[in-house]
Formats: sequence, C-alpha cells, structure tokens
Amino acid sequence: MEKLTVRGGRPLGGTVRVSGSKNAALPLIFATVLTESVCVIENVPRIRDVEISLEILSSMGAQVRWEKRGSLAICTENMRLAAPPEHLVCSLRASTYLMGAMLGRFGRAYVQNFGGCNFSPRPIDMHLFAAKALGADLENNDILAPHGLRGAVIAFDKVSVGATVNALLMAVRAEGRTVIENAAAEPHVENLIVFLRSMGAAISRLGSALVVDGSALRGGRAAVVGDMIEGGTYLLSGLATGGAVSVEGCDAVHLSSFLSILRRGGAFVKTEGGRITVSGRLIAPIMLKTAPYPGFPTDLQPQTALIGALHNGAVVTETVFPGRFGYLEALSDMGLSYVRSGSGAYLFPSRLYAGSVMAEDLRGGAALVLAALSAEGESVIYGISAVLRGYENIVEKFSSLGANINF
Ligand code: EPZ
Repeated sequence: MEKLTVRGGRPLGGTVRVSGSKNAALPLIFATVLTESVCVIENVPRIRDVEISLEILSSMGAQVRWEKRGSLAICTENMRLAAPPEHLVCSLRASTYLMGAMLGRFGRAYVQNFGGCNFSPRPIDMHLFAAKALGADLENNDILAPHGLRGAVIAFDKVSVGATVNALLMAVRAEGRTVIENAAAEPHVENLIVFLRSMGAAISRLGSALVVDGSALRGGRAAVVGDMIEGGTYLLSGLATGGAVSVEGCDAVHLSSFLSILRRGGAFVKTEGGRITVSGRLIAPIMLKTAPYPGFPTDLQPQTALIGALHNGAVVTETVFPGRFGYLEALSDMGLSYVRSGSGAYLFPSRLYAGSVMAEDLRGGAALVLAALSAEGESVIYGISAVLRGYENIVEKFSSLGANINF
C-alpha cells in the first residue's frame, strides 16, 4: 500500500505554484465527447483522476495525446457507444459526466456504478432528473433519447456541481433552449462554460440560472483554472507549522470565503500580484459553515478544521456532505480531541503527536498530511493514493517549502 512519510515540526516557507483544478479538468475532458473535432485543454494536472478519465475515453476509442507540459489534445471522432470498464468508472465520481456527454453525443448512456470519495452517500437522482427533463427515458440501466434531447426547464431544488455539469453537457446538444435553475457557480463550472463556449455553445448566466441554446459543436480550446482547493491546502501548511506560505496560479476571489475565515481567526492574509500569502497565528477559534460557491468550500473543511484544532479550536457545520468527518478518527490517533453532533463537529485545541494513520478520502487525507507536518517526529500516512487523486507533485511541492516528506 502506498504511504507517505513525514518528519514534521519544522516551519514551512516559500511559494508554491498550484496546478490546474482537478474538479475543472475532469468536466472538460468528458465534454470533448460532445464533438467529433479535436479539442485542446491546457494546464491539465497529471493526477490519478485525470489519468483514469483519459483511460475511460481511450477504452471507448478516443485518441488522447499529452503535448507540451500539461497540454492535452483529445479527439473522440472514432469513439464507440459502449459501457466503459466498471473498474475505471467506479474509481471516480467524475465518471458520472459520461452520462451527460454520451447522451449529448449518442442519444444513449449507461447508468453504472460511479465512484467518488466515500465520506457520504453520492446519489445521482438529480443527474437523472435533468436527463428526463430533456426528454430521455430510463430503461433498467440505460438512458435513452432515440429522438435526441429537447430543451426544457431543469429546476434543481438544491445546488449540485455534478448535476449542473451533466445538465450543461446535455443541454448544449439538445434541440432548442434549456434553462437550468439553481445552477452551481463554482469556478470549475464557469471553466466548463468557457470551454463549451469555445466549442460554439450559447450559454448565458441569468442570476442563479443558466440559459443554454443547443447546437452542433466544433473542437474547442481552454485552459484549466488554477486549483483553489490545492491552493488553500498549501496556504494552511504555513499555519500548521508556524511558517508563512504563498501560492500562485489560483484566484484569490475563488478563495474569498476561505480567506475571510482565516482573517477572522487572526491570521495575516496578503493578496498581491497574483500571489496569496497566509502567515501568523490564529488567536480565535475557527468558526466555519460549508456551502456551495461562493460559500466556504466543503473541500477545504477537513484541512481548515485541523488548523483550528492546532490553535484555539474549531466549530464546523458541514451542510454539503453532512458525513464528511471521517478524518477526525484518524486525527484522534494523533492526539486530537473532538465531539461530533449531527452535521457538525467541535475540535478542541489539541497538541498533535506523530503517528501512523490511514487516509480514507482525498481531502481528509490532505488534512492528515497537514497534521503530520505540524507534529514533531515521524508520521506515516497510509492509503496516500487517495490524496494523489487530487494533488499533483505533492512531495516536490511540500519539499520546496522545506518539508521533510517522501513516499
Ligand atoms: C463535486 O462533487 C466535487 N467532485 C466534490 O469534490 C465537491 O466536494 C462537491 O462537488 C461539492 O463542491 C468533483 O467535482 C469530481 P454535488 P459532486 O453534486 O458533484 C447532493 C473533492 O474532494 N446530491 O455538488 O458529487 C450530494 O449528496 C471532491 O475534490 C444529490 O442529492 O457534489 C450533496 O449533498 C469531493 N443528488 C450535494 O448534493 C444528486 O444527484 C452536493 O453534491 C447529486 C448530488
């Protein structure tokens, strides 16, 4: 089993350039299914979930080529309508995007055993609701639109990133106009909209709704937006170790809720010339409540809660994935004390000790890495492959900040 060894307890300092966002790159990769022309996607991170997504498309006949650093050329002209291998589909949540892409291209898709971090149930009812609204029928595990998709109003009752992505992938190839109400507005959804527009799609945002006029699509080109979650994780490593860490390559606006929580806790936050720096110490408990963008990102909840515990405590309310607290048990093996109640947790101010722990999921695993960096001595984090799904070159980047870290 893959593991990461960290000898922590030393302040980190310096600047890290973040990679392209995992959660932006994946929708763009699957969106290439919507056209038979070549698409080019730049600033793509070489991470497990990207490699698996490309393997899924290649297994269906797509041509994929890595060009200069981080640039991908994808042509799905010869792609076949087939259910890709289950072992690939079940290993990541983004494989759900196959449904929208294949329905948009072929008028048919398969409901398979899609994956994703196991911190909460990961239903797809909203994805299927969108497909049915556009005229598709569900027959066993097939989703069929033999006469193509027809524009409609898709009124989501809550915000879902994935369901918004799939609704967009279907709507851009549907006949006529689609209105997606209560659409997600995460930077990675906006990145997809930019890419789809480069393919000729007509998409506009009207308040919390997206208005889409379907059409045939040409090859597109876009760059993946900088990963705000990766950036936030590295910024927290400065607070975890009493150092000062800066990040470049992600937009401070995307992190505004996160940065204001750190400021409110007493940290020093500086944003200047495309660089974000966090330093100092927290002097008040972290009080955070996750919410869809522009609210506090659920994908930074475990990491930020950990930082609170290393200082004056943290009061956490998780509204997106109420069960997203699996990491607390692993941290308790390193000395964390906490209480859980419903969709919340209180992390008491705790001194953490080096230890051997298991990463259960991507962002909880990232919180364990930060804990290991803060604790004096040698820690070992098993199951590190969960973290490699979303953090490109994690050893090189933390080493460049002065960390003693290796596989
Ligand atoms: C995406 O997951 C991200 N994954 C997650 O990041 C992220 O935590 C999440 O959005 C929220 O921002 C990818 O982009 C690959 P949702 P997704 O649909 O699309 C419920 C990471 O660490 N829901 O916005 O699955 C759902 O249960 C990963 O990078 C339904 O009820 O999240 C949740 O409570 C983890 N029915 C809420 O909506 C549905 O059909 C929001 O989930 C779909 C979702």
